[in-house]
Amino acid sequence: FDTAGFQQDLLKWYDENKRDLPWRKSQDPYKIWVSEIMLQQTKVDTVIPYFHRFMEQFPTVYELADADPQDVLKAWEGLGYYSRARNLQNAVREVVAEYGGKVPDTPRELGSLKGIGPYTKGAILSIAYNKPEPAVDGNVMRVFSRVLKIEEDIAQQRTKKLFDTYVREVISEEDPSSFNQAIMDLGSSICTPKSPACLLCPVQEYCIAFAEGMEESLPIKSKA
Ligand code: ADE
Repeated sequence: FDTAGFQQDLLKWYDENKRDLPWRKSQDPYKIWVSEIMLQQTKVDTVIPYFHRFMEQFPTVYELADADPQDVLKAWEGLGYYSRARNLQNAVREVVAEYGGKVPDTPRELGSLKGIGPYTKGAILSIAYNKPEPAVDGNVMRVFSRVLKIEEDIAQQRTKKLFDTYVREVISEEDPSSFNQAIMDLGSSICTPKSPACLLCPVQEYCIAFAEGMEESLPIKSKA
């Protein structure tokens, strides 16, 4: 696999086509964190106005840590999955209490915070701290299952670890932040679940599924 070519073509495409999203205007790990929690079960277009309001109301970890939990829930109203908001505030309080208000930059410390699983941990480490850490979600599994022709069942929990291993091997060490966000954008605009736009894909030449005409058959997912 031509890792260098893949990275170069993907990053060039991202540079020219990246979506203009509010959390991309900053590398503040707190803002990246909030955006990734909001984006977990909610679409980008829905998240944008919530993200703006949340940042006006709670611009740093300190305002969020000091806030009345009812006000945090109120700011979250309409986004759903309210445990996300409770966990976020609890974790932010721990960051203030245990880490002097600085969002940790190690996998171990980040992963110990409430509500931060492997995906969110990888997203914060790569996007905010530019560390070469995978952030594997359903979109990332779809893209790499096609590019690398991985026929494991993505409904199986252990498959995420397998993808983590593959992404570790192809992630850009120079610009892991752009690399991960480029894969996210590719998954949402081109490498879509149905009828992917392979003719527009910047990494079509590296894609085994495309070469074999099986892009619509991947990823394999056992349960709905
Ligand atoms: N989905 C999850 N995280 C995202 C991000 N940082 N940018 C765009 N879409 C996303």
